[in-house]
Amino acid sequence: MAMIALKCPEIEVVVVDINEARIAAWNTDKLPIYEPGLLEVVKEARGRNLFFSTDVGKHVGEADIVFVSVNTPTKTSGVGAGKAADLTYWEGAARVIASVSSSSKIIVEKSTVPVKTADAIEKVLCRNCTNPDVHFEILSNPEFLAEGTAIEDLMAPDRVLIGGKDTESGRAAIEALASVYAHWVPQERILRANLWSAELAKLTANAMLAQRISSMNSISALCEATGADVQQVARSIGTDSRIGPKFLNASVGFGGSCFQKDILNLVYICETAGLQQVANYWEQVITMNNYQKHRFVQRVISAMFNTISKKKIAVYGFAFKKDTGDTRETPAIDVCRGLMADGANVCVYDPQVTDEQVYQDLTTQPYEWYDHPNPRSAPVDKSAIAISHDPMEAARGAHGICVLTEWDEFKSYDYQKVYDNMVKPAFIFDGRNILDHQKLREIGFIVYALGKPLEPFLQKNYS
Ligand code: UDX
Repeated sequence: MAMIALKCPEIEVVVVDINEARIAAWNTDKLPIYEPGLLEVVKEARGRNLFFSTDVGKHVGEADIVFVSVNTPTKTSGVGAGKAADLTYWEGAARVIASVSSSSKIIVEKSTVPVKTADAIEKVLCRNCTNPDVHFEILSNPEFLAEGTAIEDLMAPDRVLIGGKDTESGRAAIEALASVYAHWVPQERILRANLWSAELAKLTANAMLAQRISSMNSISALCEATGADVQQVARSIGTDSRIGPKFLNASVGFGGSCFQKDILNLVYICETAGLQQVANYWEQVITMNNYQKHRFVQRVISAMFNTISKKKIAVYGFAFKKDTGDTRETPAIDVCRGLMADGANVCVYDPQVTDEQVYQDLTTQPYEWYDHPNPRSAPVDKSAIAISHDPMEAARGAHGICVLTEWDEFKSYDYQKVYDNMVKPAFIFDGRNILDHQKLREIGFIVYALGKPLEPFLQKNYS
């Protein structure tokens, strides 16, 4: 919304939320989320044509276009629990819109929703609005930005997708929204589609991106078993223009608020449509992701002589990717919980994630574990969690370091100094393949990198 306000000075944009603390934060220079470049965009438009308010009724009532960007988490109970999307917030928003509307509006689905949600929402809107002159036209306009690069992605999107009904009013609504984006997005990048295709395109895009990572992660396991190098494999296949070079980095596992949630949602939709084979196919992307996290922990344990009990392990990076403080579904949660379940003491360092967030994630998040017989019952020993704001201190006295997020600053540390302060033999497990492994080995570290050959002597002894 900040980008729309920046690019369309004649359009008034009001962001509304019932959460007063959040709205208050949006009105300061300490925004409630960390996103490079966002503050500059907000500062330029705020007070001019961008406003933040808790007066939901007034501003929704006055609007011509309402973007609904509420949470659509995975259902935790009831029918479809663990897979289906929970549309409680969406339905609540639709009821509010219906109750305060005295003029016709275009309602835009921004949140990722199951296919055919627009149908359900339209019913809620129409049946709850008493004014017969009010018409709601629903559009699907999924968001493809990625965290950490949101501003770049919004500034020059690969495409903007707008789905609507193939009726006169539907087509008019599509064009109205397209004219907003046309302020800065070239026409050929504004794609029009029918409602269901647009909704499904979003789920499919995320499922296929995640599938690429799971595919490379599966190959990383094979590389370790055979002596091949997953980065060389990725580079080789990425030059095939049909495959392309992006999103081929093997990792400790993908995280973030979208991939797992959207795949589970897709799986659920397939199951309800009676397409069990299709559901199984996509579910495997998540199974492979869980396996990768589990495999990483097993690798740490086996490398450190099959016991990590009472050993200090420094965790470099807790966010689900670099340049964000977001920890939703971060692989670091499962990896730390796995290490702690085997008795390790973890000391987490992350440049952006708050201490409270790390504690909350490690103590209250459900513990999902690959093949674990009773995943949610694994007890958490809070004394095994430490947090440091200094990467050197985090590694002091540690037996090993696990790199779990690809923060750029991890590449430039003085690893000789890090090594000097660690217990020997000192291990590094590079879950993102970002460090200079050769240099680390020269310092004296025992280095394990994902999908990479081990040092020759280690290969002989431990493989
Ligand atoms: C994703 C989609 O990219 C975006 O289009 C959609 O709108 C929301 O979901 P996001 O979750 O912000 O965006 O991050 P993304 O960059 O896609 O990364 C997701 C996860 O995959 C991260 O944990 C990242 O570290 C991991 N990843 C990404 C890899 O492990 N390897 C890669 O090659 C790329």
